[in-house]
Amino acid sequence: MDRFVIAGGRPLCGAVKVQGAKNSALPSIAACILTGEPVRLRNIPKLTDIDVMRSILHSLGAECEWEGDDLVISAERINDCVIPENLMREMRSSIILLGPLLARAGRVVASYPGGYAIGSRPIDLHLKGLRALGVQIEDEGRGLLRAHAETLRGADIHLSMPSVGATENIMMAATLATGETIIRNAAMEPEIVDLQNFLNAMGAGISGAGTDCLSIRGVTRLHGAEYAIIPDRIVAGTYLLGAVMTRGHVTVFPAPPDQLEPLLAKLREMGALVVLDGSGVTAVGRGRPKALDSVKTSPFPGFPTDLQAPLLAALCLADGTSVLTETVFESRFKHVDELNRLGASIKVAGRSAVIRGVDRLTGALVSASDLRAGAALTLAGLAAQGITVVEQVHHIGRGYASLVEDLRTLGAAIERI
Ligand code: EPZ
Repeated sequence: MDRFVIAGGRPLCGAVKVQGAKNSALPSIAACILTGEPVRLRNIPKLTDIDVMRSILHSLGAECEWEGDDLVISAERINDCVIPENLMREMRSSIILLGPLLARAGRVVASYPGGYAIGSRPIDLHLKGLRALGVQIEDEGRGLLRAHAETLRGADIHLSMPSVGATENIMMAATLATGETIIRNAAMEPEIVDLQNFLNAMGAGISGAGTDCLSIRGVTRLHGAEYAIIPDRIVAGTYLLGAVMTRGHVTVFPAPPDQLEPLLAKLREMGALVVLDGSGVTAVGRGRPKALDSVKTSPFPGFPTDLQAPLLAALCLADGTSVLTETVFESRFKHVDELNRLGASIKVAGRSAVIRGVDRLTGALVSASDLRAGAALTLAGLAAQGITVVEQVHHIGRGYASLVEDLRTLGAAIERI
């Protein structure tokens, strides 16, 4: 298994280009199943999660090939509607194929997504929304679900919580339903807006994305399109936090400030200088970061759960004690023990972590449990004195297309071996 070897103690300085957003790319690739015409998706990051999605589309009978940073997808024929169990277990978010397959082919067999390192992540809201559109769903046993729908009809759906995936699944299924669908308490993430814009480029009739109420006017068919997805705000935020932790200065571009605002507010509270110029954002670390009395993750426009681990790593070095509460996932603190091995002083109580800032971290051998934990440990290694080895770094490749190269561009001493 690959590992990172990091010689810490050097400030990150410079500018890096931000990859396309993983959490836009995955639903957008799934949405291509809604039409039999070719689609070109631009700015797609080269990630292992994208490879998994490509394999699933191939297994369904669609073509999905790279042309540079573009994915050219043609789902002219859908020969099969079974999502392979091994691929479903490898990537839980493949559940967002349910909506498009049901809308296009009227049937799908899938396995319940495997447990995830960050919690059980049920799919009850996805199934409830699809049933409201007229989908029949049976539990086949053996962890398999079988769903079919003669026709999909619009419905007024209220989500009990603003689930990103459930909003996306229902939205995609509703594009080809008869009549109008309303989704209330919908997720408001920028990736939902991106998916709306892509689907509308294919001829859908969606409005309201970015608010908590979406309206989808069903149409009879969707056509091909070319579309460039938005930059990855989580990757951008990871690098900006790295600047604060290593007392350097990092510019990320393109980086729409409105998508990063929840993080930028915290960087300012921690004493960093944040500069917005044109298409980029710069964070300048100014001495030891200040502690944050109380910060909690929540659905957009709250502080994003995907930056919880990198923020927690930064708070390890803060001047004072911080309290960070994870309200989105029930167990997303697996990085705490590993950060403590680097000399941090963190205690977890239920959904909150109490971080007593220390003035230095010391290099050690640590292990990544999941994608964002791996990014956090890498940042901590950059700020620590001495050598840090991060194991299980394959998790990081799920979401960061060029972490080592980007960090080396910023002056880090990091090797992947
Ligand atoms: C998306 O996951 C992202 N993944 C996650 O990013 C992100 O952390 C999450 O949204 C929250 O922003 C993709 O977009 C591919 P949810 P998703 O449905 O859709 C519960 C990363 O690191 N829930 O909003 O799975 C669930 O258990 C990944 O890039 C139900 O209870 O997130 C969780 O506690 C990690 N029932 C909470 O809602 C459901 O039917 C948020 O889940 C669905 C979800």
